[in-house]
Amino acid sequence: MTAITFPPGFRWGVATAAAQVEGAAHEDGKGDSIWDVLCRRPGAIDDASNIDVACDHYHRVDDDVALIKSLGYPTYRFSVSWARVMPDGRTLNERGLDFYEHLVDALRAAGIEPWLTLYHWDLPQALQEEGGWTVRSTAAAFADYARAVYARLGGKVDIWTTLNEPWCSSFLSYAGAEHAPAVNEPAQAVAAVHHLMLGHGLAVRALREAAAAVGRSPRLGITLNFSPVHPADPSSPADRDAARRVDGTQNRLFLEAMLRGAYPADVVEDMTAWADIHHWVREGDMEVVSEPIDVLGVNFYNGQTLAGPEPGLRFGGPEAGAGPSANVGSENVRAVPQDLPVTDMGWQVEPRDLYELLMRLEREYTSTAGPDGTGIPLVITENGAAFRDEPDERGYVEDLDRLAYIRDHLVAVHDAIADGARVEGYLVWSLMDNFEWARGYTKRFGIVRVDYDTLERMPKASAEWFSTVVRNNGFEL
Ligand code: NOJ
Repeated sequence: MTAITFPPGFRWGVATAAAQVEGAAHEDGKGDSIWDVLCRRPGAIDDASNIDVACDHYHRVDDDVALIKSLGYPTYRFSVSWARVMPDGRTLNERGLDFYEHLVDALRAAGIEPWLTLYHWDLPQALQEEGGWTVRSTAAAFADYARAVYARLGGKVDIWTTLNEPWCSSFLSYAGAEHAPAVNEPAQAVAAVHHLMLGHGLAVRALREAAAAVGRSPRLGITLNFSPVHPADPSSPADRDAARRVDGTQNRLFLEAMLRGAYPADVVEDMTAWADIHHWVREGDMEVVSEPIDVLGVNFYNGQTLAGPEPGLRFGGPEAGAGPSANVGSENVRAVPQDLPVTDMGWQVEPRDLYELLMRLEREYTSTAGPDGTGIPLVITENGAAFRDEPDERGYVEDLDRLAYIRDHLVAVHDAIADGARVEGYLVWSLMDNFEWARGYTKRFGIVRVDYDTLERMPKASAEWFSTVVRNNGFEL
């Protein structure tokens, strides 16, 4: 038996997002988000479901906080629905903020640290009608929204994430046609990249200014989705180039803009077939985009092995072993399935990819980042897996597959810390089964089961095991 022990103070927790759990889609003044609208489009969601009710977290918030407390998870990462707080994207709806203030108060009373994400993909539909992330005004509106949320919650929340996974909000949404607004206009995706990053930088500035004015210094960051890539045949220039291109759009584009103040030249060049990103970049923008952050959120699910080119393949969908639509944003790339287990999403399971990712981030990016250049920590803001759950007659799920996924990825995190990566925390995706975007309710990521008929919650074996991990700050292997 080997003891896998984490550093003292390591942050443990669980995550969700507003559109995926809240429901109450039309209550207390909430406006439509682009996901409310996409759900109405025939064929857009696998099971033709919607998010009117979802997990009904909006009405069960007290029970859900009690559940998190009973499981002993110290941090809860949630997102605020912009359309709840500003139904038309600009006008404040105090009742929307009431909900989040209630949630934060309940978390604090239960001794749980709130980790607030401002944007987890649910843009107010009214802003989409003005062009969504393809237009610059959305970035400014986002900063105003950040300011408004801070004005109410700044005294109660110390950790703020601007955007969750901007790759998804740009490529998958405006070129992949898979995520809302489900458009297939690659040039729009390129515009969206810049306006998302501009919105991020403007929001960081707005939050920091607002906090300084009241003598607070919250930790500010962003969460990116990383997918380590490997060439199928390392000796093949075409495969190496495919890996470089996907690494470029999925990993380096956002990271380098934010931490180095420039979009990487090779990625800009690759993207010119769709549009020149500099068309949207104005004087001074990159200083805003690269406003220093205090923490980098890492969402990790899987790596990919890539080959290319395969002429004729444009914006391909997900393939066996690949991440979410591996090819979106990179033309003529093929994901090559490996001899590895896959989750119910078809994503390959290889925890070493997480180890390598963390080491690379530390080595190449984060060790000299931050306001004073002395480095910023990494936090795994999401890691977890969908598997086909089989509840017993009580509804209990013995999800040893999910438990093993989390355990093996924690070993990878532990190894990376031992080798020098500054990883300060790990949050499981997700606290509970929820609306898995275009997959509807067909994929379950929760460590707590949600019975969608009764909306009852029941912790799975993975949730109970994770409680012991948190309690012991580690586990025996
Ligand atoms: C990342 C996203 O942030 C989350 O919303 C989603 O459910 C998980 N990936 C699983 O696909």
